[in-house]
Amino acid sequence: MGTASLCSSILLFTLIFHSCLHYNAVVGTEREALEIIIGGGGGGYSPAPSRPPPRRSPCPPPPRPPRLPLSPRLNPTLSPRHNPPSNGFVSENIERAYHTIQRFKKLITSDPMKITKKWVGKDVCNYPGFKCATVPDQKVTALAAADFNGYHFGDRDLQLTGFLDQLPDLSLFHANSNNFTGPVPKNINTSRVRYLIELDLSNNKYSGEFPVSVLQATNLTFLDIRFNSFSGSVPAEVFNLDLDVLFINNNKFSQQLPRNLGSTPVLYLTLANNNFSGPIPKSIGNARNLLEVLFLNNELEGCLPYEIGKLDKAVVFDVGSNKLTGPIPHSFACLKKMKILNLAVNKFYGPVPEMVCDLPRLANLSLSYNYFTQVGPECRKLIKKRILDVRMNCILDLPGQRSAADCAKFFSKKRTCPNERSLSYIPCRKGGYSSSLETSDQQSMAPAAAPITYNALKPHKLRL
Ligand SMILES: *[C@@H]1O[C@H](CO)[C@@H](O)[C@H](O)[C@H]1NC(C)=O
Ligand SMILES: *[C@@H]1O[C@H](CO)[C@@H](O)[C@H](O)[C@H]1NC(C)=O
Ligand SMILES: *[C@@H]1O[C@H](CO)[C@@H](O)[C@H](O)[C@H]1NC(C)=O
Ligand SMILES: *[C@@H]1O[C@H](CO)[C@@H](O)[C@H](O)[C@H]1NC(C)=O
Ligand SMILES: *[C@@H]1O[C@H](CO)[C@@H](O)[C@H](O)[C@H]1NC(C)=O
Repeated sequence: MGTASLCSSILLFTLIFHSCLHYNAVVGTEREALEIIIGGGGGGYSPAPSRPPPRRSPCPPPPRPPRLPLSPRLNPTLSPRHNPPSNGFVSENIERAYHTIQRFKKLITSDPMKITKKWVGKDVCNYPGFKCATVPDQKVTALAAADFNGYHFGDRDLQLTGFLDQLPDLSLFHANSNNFTGPVPKNINTSRVRYLIELDLSNNKYSGEFPVSVLQATNLTFLDIRFNSFSGSVPAEVFNLDLDVLFINNNKFSQQLPRNLGSTPVLYLTLANNNFSGPIPKSIGNARNLLEVLFLNNELEGCLPYEIGKLDKAVVFDVGSNKLTGPIPHSFACLKKMKILNLAVNKFYGPVPEMVCDLPRLANLSLSYNYFTQVGPECRKLIKKRILDVRMNCILDLPGQRSAADCAKFFSKKRTCPNERSLSYIPCRKGGYSSSLETSDQQSMAPAAAPITYNALKPHKLRL
């Protein structure tokens, strides 16, 4: 189906006017076709309850939504209840939003870009930072999106309570790089802000406990709270939310990773730069949608579970700068899509499995600052190509290694992993342990998208 006809059928089916324009995360039925234009902003609603069909090319600009009061004559389908009020607002919903916005505007004492100066008059849909669309359940024009990315709104104590929870038609709320503080609004549950699918509070001034109210916002598909000062633990329920994107990196979360971590259906998961401890749960092998996983710079320990090898869609797996140990599980030979594999700065040891160096898509294999002891011919080829970095290990015949004394000290202690035999299990092989590796890598398939989550390790909004 052509892009244009696909889009118009989406339009017809859902009565959503600009679903092609603003979607920040569009996901296919199989979650295969996530198109990320993170921080793109715009207004609209998710075609509830099912997800839109997979899209592989951008949609042409859809028609603009009606923004002016429509006369009932031109719009015979509108019931009298939905007639625009005669006071100049497009709809009652917009009139209510107007009052909420005007109240909020008074609280913003710092507005370096002079955005709120333009929040005047009844044409709320054209205020900078806001977008309108037809709200599916009421079929009236409503405030669908608020995108304050990079506006640097501030005050000594600028809170979202009284704003976000008073805009019940919102579908997207993006507020990267502002000075919002205080509790995240409590009343953003599904029965109130019923279309809220994207919430981005990244790079603000939030602190304290994880904002548990998001657990009630069960229509969310995109949750980004990176670059705040949240502390304590992340409730295990977060990993049961039906999200596509979960960014909680660069906070102060401190806990063992919950056992149900692998229940998450996300494609992109970043927990980097926190204080997560304990082992990576075996359940991670169930998170089969994962494309990119960033655990770097935490306090994770223990051995890698072989189940990681089941993540056959993953292109990025980064556990750099933790306290992990043990050998690389042979199951990593099944990570056929893997491009960036970072195990650097941990306490891994043993020979580097040749099967891992043989992975077809590898572009960066970082194993430096560990205690690896051997590399075979395949791995040496990667070293030559500068794909594999094994500096500062215990590989005696290579330059730039740890001192013999450091290595001897490390290996003087007996080191084992629980369930050692599982570490030589290769789930993608017939028989699990045999040597007939199935090499049915579909080279014909389109190459995976360039990794994007590393951009989440910078505070500003995300762009492709
Ligand atoms: C949001 O959640 C409600 C209740 O769970 C559901 O009825 C509705 O279809 C959902 N809306 C979207 C856009 O997913
Ligand atoms: C935001 O807060 C920081 C310190 O917390 C301050 O330096 C900055 O000026 C504030 N910016 C605004 C726009 O209020
Ligand atoms: C959702 O929020 C509304 C409004 O605050 C509240 O009355 C309701 O009890 C909440 N529902 C749930 C399921 O938490
Ligand atoms: C990190 O977690 C460990 C326990 O796992 C704790 O001892 C330490 O104080 C925490 N550090 C910070 C900065 O929270
Ligand atoms: C490979 O990854 C490591 C660790 O993330 C990074 O430091 C290094 O710059 C990367 N190398 C290349 C060539 O991209």
